[in-house]
Amino acid sequence: MALKLIRYSAWAAVFLIAVSVGVSSVLWYQQSDPATAAVKVGGDFSLVDTNGTRVTEADFLGKPRAMFFGFTHCPDVCPTTLYEASGWLQALGPDADKLSVMFISVDPERDTPEVLGDYISAFENGIVGLTGSTADVDAVVKAYRVYARKVETDDGDYTVDHTASVYLMDENGKFSGSIRYQEDHDVAVEKLRNLIARAETAPSS
Ligand code: NI
Repeated sequence: MALKLIRYSAWAAVFLIAVSVGVSSVLWYQQSDPATAAVKVGGDFSLVDTNGTRVTEADFLGKPRAMFFGFTHCPDVCPTTLYEASGWLQALGPDADKLSVMFISVDPERDTPEVLGDYISAFENGIVGLTGSTADVDAVVKAYRVYARKVETDDGDYTVDHTASVYLMDENGKFSGSIRYQEDHDVAVEKLRNLIARAETAPSS
């Protein structure tokens, strides 16, 4: 009886080891394969442009896009990035039309379409300003895995800490990399040119 029990235990141990090896190799495979390990960034959104017109991702598909999330009261990161983005559009010249550059507010409370329109008019006019209700903005922030957090300031006001990278999405809305904050101008323009070139050579689907 005791011997039988030991034999059962041994088989049970072999079984458990086999299962755990199987599970860990599946996990290892998933981690090592970028296609399955990649977290989805992007997707549909519903926002309002500076004319007050509602737009969704479908309005932008077919062209690659550079998306930047920020807010008009931002003291440094947003004006710097918008100024640099204006320089990228100028460097692209006529090819700038083959790309959408979007500035999406993470501060819908203060950034009405009018406020946002006034603000971005100071930059290159190829930049599309988008805002919306708090729910609209929360949804796009979540889909694009943007970090945006409201922080109270000493004067009783608030600021918003936010992701400073520019998201690059291909013509099908697939995440294709980013331009980091204060990226070298030529490197940034090269990334945009590659994005445009890939869209032009891709077989139309
Ligand atoms: Ni900012």
